[in-house]
Amino acid sequence: MKRNKVVAGNWKMHLTANEAQQFANKLRINLLDTHGVSIIICPPFLGLKSVFDTVKDSSIKVGAQNMHNETQGAFTGEISGEMIKDIGIQYVLLGHSERRHVFGETDDFINKKMASSLRVGLDPVLCVGERLEEREAGKTSEVVIRQLRAGLKEISEAQMAHVMIAYEPVWAIGTGLTASREQAVEVHEIIRDELASLYSGVIAEKTAILYGGSVKAENAKDLMSHEEIDGVLVGGAALKVDSFVGIAKAAMEIN
Ligand code: 13P
Repeated sequence: MKRNKVVAGNWKMHLTANEAQQFANKLRINLLDTHGVSIIICPPFLGLKSVFDTVKDSSIKVGAQNMHNETQGAFTGEISGEMIKDIGIQYVLLGHSERRHVFGETDDFINKKMASSLRVGLDPVLCVGERLEEREAGKTSEVVIRQLRAGLKEISEAQMAHVMIAYEPVWAIGTGLTASREQAVEVHEIIRDELASLYSGVIAEKTAILYGGSVKAENAKDLMSHEEIDGVLVGGAALKVDSFVGIAKAAMEIN
C-alpha cells in the first residue's frame, strides 16, 4: 500500500512567536506546492497561533509539541488539547523522548494524553524509541513495543485513522548519529507488526511511521526512499529554511 510521505519539524524550545511567524512565512513561500507530501511544523505553544494564521491558507499544517490530558483545571503551567484545537491546530506530538526522559513522563500519562487528544479531535503523533543502553542490551524491540502498547491502550481501531507513530531512537536525537536506513527499517517493521497484532493488517498498513533522529537534507532521501519509512520528524535541521525545505523536497521527489 502506498502511503504519502510526511515531513514534520519539531522546533522544540526555539523561536519566539515573532520569529516563528517570520520563519513560517518563509517556509510557506518556499513550499507553495507540496506534491502530496504532508508538511507539519510544530512551534512552541506561544508561536502556535501566529504560525497557524501565517500558513492556514497554504498546504503546511501545524502541530503542538505537547499537551495536558485534562480539559481544564488546577494544572498550573499546562495547556489542554482543547485549547490547542480551539485555535485551529490539527496535530500534537506526544511522548517525545525529551518529555519522557527530561520531564519524567510515564507511558501511562502519555496514554492519557493520547486518549484526550483524540477525544478533542487532534491527530497525535506518538513518539517511541530506545536509549543507547537499551539498544546495546538488545532491548530495542522490547522497549518500543512496551511504549507502543502502553501509548495505544484503549485507543480504538477507528481512532487509529488519526494516529501517526514516530520512531525516534534516543541515541540519535540531537547527536548527529542517524540510525542507518536498515536500523530504522528494522524497528519500523517491528512497530508495524505490533500494530497488526494490536489492531489489524489494514490498520498497520495505513498507519504512517516516521523516523526521527539527526535527519538532515543529506540523509533524508536515503531514509525515505524505503517504503517502510513514511516520513521524518526533524529537530535541528527544521530550524533552517534551506535544510527543512531540502528535506521536504527530498520527500516530494520520492512521493
Ligand atoms: P534532531 O533532528 O535534532 O536529532 O531531533 C530529532 C527530534 O527529536 C525530533 O522530534
